[in-house]
Amino acid sequence: MRIGVLTGGGDCPGLNAAIRAVVRRGVKEFGDEFTGFRDGWHGPLERDTMPLDLETVHGILPLGGTILGSSRTNPLKVEDGIARIRENLAALGLDALIALGGEDTLGVALALHEAGVPVVGVPKTIDNDLSGTDYTFGFDTAVGIATEAADRLRTTAESHHRALVCEVMGRHAGWIALHSGMASGADVVLIPEKPFDLDEVTAHVEARFRAGHAPVLVVSEGARPVEGSLELQTGERDAFGHVRLGGIGERLAAELERRTGREARCVVLGHLQRGGTPTAFDRVLATRFGLHAIEAVHAGDHGTMVALRGTDIVRVGLAEAVGTLKTVPLERYAEAEVFFG
Ligand code: F6P
Repeated sequence: MRIGVLTGGGDCPGLNAAIRAVVRRGVKEFGDEFTGFRDGWHGPLERDTMPLDLETVHGILPLGGTILGSSRTNPLKVEDGIARIRENLAALGLDALIALGGEDTLGVALALHEAGVPVVGVPKTIDNDLSGTDYTFGFDTAVGIATEAADRLRTTAESHHRALVCEVMGRHAGWIALHSGMASGADVVLIPEKPFDLDEVTAHVEARFRAGHAPVLVVSEGARPVEGSLELQTGERDAFGHVRLGGIGERLAAELERRTGREARCVVLGHLQRGGTPTAFDRVLATRFGLHAIEAVHAGDHGTMVALRGTDIVRVGLAEAVGTLKTVPLERYAEAEVFFG
């Protein structure tokens, strides 16, 4: 078969491991030929391709980023975008497409499937907010980076008797904050799913200082206070309509300093969480997803996404995967709350 491969949306560690697995199994077991599309949906829209063979994927397993490039290009916002992609795939003689992405990228994959294009999805995102799969690759790496950062912030916070706010990614889902906060023993964890009460947060910080310790707070970029007074939005939106968030950590630190009279600083981890080499867990998960994605293509199981259920890789419908965002259940947040203050 001739198969196109693309990576869309925010990049994440493990993409190259997945691409390598798709190509290695496809070539060796099925005799496939591959075409790489550059920069997400831009590639098939503009017929911007690159070679993708055994030589191209040699040595990429531990590399962060994606050799194919990525973008947030949204064909659903481009006139006749879906039809153009279908025509371009036919003109390139491709029999199927494998799309590696999060909710947005796989939403486009679903539209293509509905338009009759044979497509299989592979879930990736550091946010871990894709439904249908227990985990996405990239998440474990991001959590590891955020946990190490919070650990490091704790020692310097203790030395200077100040509060430190660590802002992590997660616009709509607080998985990174929840896991890195629990792993680092954060004194407060704030997530988008549960608007926070500033008085309660202040009380936790004061309690920590009273006990002779320096508080560390792990905060999702999408966290917001109950009354909505502290959220900062830039007003900008990306091609998928997401508001660009920023500043909740800084605002919170300033407010805590004003309220407690104790010094408070903020560190925004930002894209550090997405860069660099994947953890062993993410390499294995991405590799297994890649191996199973090529199998799904050959089984003719189009319109599906490979997914992790327990320790098994299964296939779920793309519609199930992109229908609703997988957010943090409040009972999971309650587990973290035990350690606040
Ligand atoms: O979706 C992954 C993600 O890293 C989010 O956690 C974050 O809010 C967003 O992408 C940032 O996007 P960009 O790199 O386009 O600013």
